[in-house]
Amino acid sequence: DEAALQEHFDATIAAQHRIEPRDWMPEAYRKTLIRQIAQHAHSEIIGMQPEGDWLLAAPSLRRKAILLAKVQDEAGHGLYLYSAAETLGADRADLTDKLIEGRQKYSSIFNYPTLTYADVGVIGWLVDGAAICNQVPLCRSSYGPYARAMIRVCKEESFHQRQGYELLMAMMRGTGEQRAMVQDAVDRWWWPSLMMFGPPDDESPNSAQSMAWGIKRHSNDELRQRYVDMTVPQAEFLGVTLPDPELSLDPASGRYRFGAIDWDELKRVISGGGPCNAERIARRRAARDDNAWVTEAATAYAQKHAERAA
Ligand code: ACO
Repeated sequence: DEAALQEHFDATIAAQHRIEPRDWMPEAYRKTLIRQIAQHAHSEIIGMQPEGDWLLAAPSLRRKAILLAKVQDEAGHGLYLYSAAETLGADRADLTDKLIEGRQKYSSIFNYPTLTYADVGVIGWLVDGAAICNQVPLCRSSYGPYARAMIRVCKEESFHQRQGYELLMAMMRGTGEQRAMVQDAVDRWWWPSLMMFGPPDDESPNSAQSMAWGIKRHSNDELRQRYVDMTVPQAEFLGVTLPDPELSLDPASGRYRFGAIDWDELKRVISGGGPCNAERIARRRAARDDNAWVTEAATAYAQKHAERAA
């Protein structure tokens, strides 16, 4: 019986059809999806912090309204993704506990500080740009609820990327000091943005199986290369220099060669040793604990109404 179910699953994947929550799936497939979707959800939720730090200091009402909307979008992405994880049997409160206890990861990129307002623009342009490269192929991921969530997430991410680029264009048209702020932010975020795509293919333990299952559609290195190819012309148009002396166009392939990435830095940041890891988790913990009464009240209210209806 199990063999027949496995065969049906394999045929569904081979035909590029979707796996839905009601379908039988191998435990390892379920586990991998929960791991990736939870990590993705946690990244959206933790990702509210670096930009949220600028909400009270945005330079104008217009910039404040834009930033507020963007940070709220990220909360929304986190919530869709937690819902997608719930369709696999995960429990949302348990996922949050795992994040806070360091038993589940979130993207390395959100462990760097936002030192000036230019960082808000650079996060939109580079970090959201990298997120788009990584996430557009996930709209074709084999698990239905994840793929469908990605469609809206990607539309909003493209909007975020454009607002970041527009912010930077405005600063580049400003004073010399503003242009220097943009260049400084680019210098700090460029290499970490390349690390968002994960370890190189030959050191990525999950890639082969995730690609065979159609969860991932492209390898880490392939997506990283696409991101570089997309971003270099944007940097030229903006008038900033990407901090990599080895960056050069390979005329034969039309792709950009780039310098060596510091993989020790990625390992350090993933394992808790980045500049802001402790602060990010401490805030998330405080948010969970300080707001527990809201969850309790909402649960009690829902229960009372369910009882009345019965
Ligand atoms: N930050 C933190 N952890 C990472 C990163 C990173 N930049 N890159 C890889 N890892 C982790 C992986 O999660 C994996 O850890 P685990 O096995 O303990 O879960 C380990 O490093 C080895 O990496 P891979 O084998 O390459 O892992 P995987 O196949 O899952 O690929 C990737 C990693 C590309 C990030 C994939 O999980 C993915 O596409 N996720 C969805 C997108 C996402 O999470 N984006 C979040 C940031 S974008 C945003 O929120 C704006």
